[in-house]
Amino acid sequence: MRVVIANDYEDLSSRAAMIVAGQVCIKPKSVLGLATGSTPTRMYNKLVEMHKSASLDFSSVVSFNLDEYIGLLPEDEQSYHWYMNKNFFEHVNISKDNIHIPNGISKNIAEECQKYDQAIQACGGIDLQILGIGNNGHIGFNEPDLKFEATTHKVELDLDTIYANSRFFKNANDVPRYAISMGIKTIMQAKKILLLVNGQNKAEAIFKTIFNEITPEIPASILQLHQDVTVIVEKEAAMYLEGKIA
Ligand code: F6R
Repeated sequence: MRVVIANDYEDLSSRAAMIVAGQVCIKPKSVLGLATGSTPTRMYNKLVEMHKSASLDFSSVVSFNLDEYIGLLPEDEQSYHWYMNKNFFEHVNISKDNIHIPNGISKNIAEECQKYDQAIQACGGIDLQILGIGNNGHIGFNEPDLKFEATTHKVELDLDTIYANSRFFKNANDVPRYAISMGIKTIMQAKKILLLVNGQNKAEAIFKTIFNEITPEIPASILQLHQDVTVIVEKEAAMYLEGKIA
């Protein structure tokens, strides 16, 4: 793993946006794996700025989002469809046909998951996967103790995740209990991975991700086995890494 310490959230977002922009410039038909949540929001803002000011071209890019809540309509402001449209897709020239987000209102969730993995493979796999991390070490919605071999599947959210994500909802009871998520196997098949870590509340999770033994109890620890992972850690999130990273 390459670990980069960023001065603050702005610095983290600029560095992340530069990596994504570099990927898209080098390979205009890149397949990007995208994350939602609070961490990548500013990175998306910066990519939109680069599209507007420097004509960063997304017209051939294909995207696959990591996850979506089960039961929320795409128009729901808490859905990841809505998040992606408002923060990114509506502001760049990505083709609608190239956007993939799991369908959380599918009548056949198992089939939806299977088709999602098939679609990723049909596009030649993910070139660059962007990830955030949960306080409990989850990546995507792969909660602790799930099998590492899972591909895209239905997950039951941990209480910890429901509590953490309730900040986006009116109250914790409104947070869906289930989601569709790319599995760890799907994530690990990406050619490159970019993990973004912001805020003191992630300090323990990122420390364990890098230094703990690899265990499903800390889902992100599996990233130690991936050959091309860059982790950008904002200073406060890096509080336990001081002196341990060259
Ligand atoms: C989002 C996702 C999650 C988040 C994680 C961190 O698509 O897959 O794993 O990346 O929960 O969320 P934030 O950035 O809101 O702290």
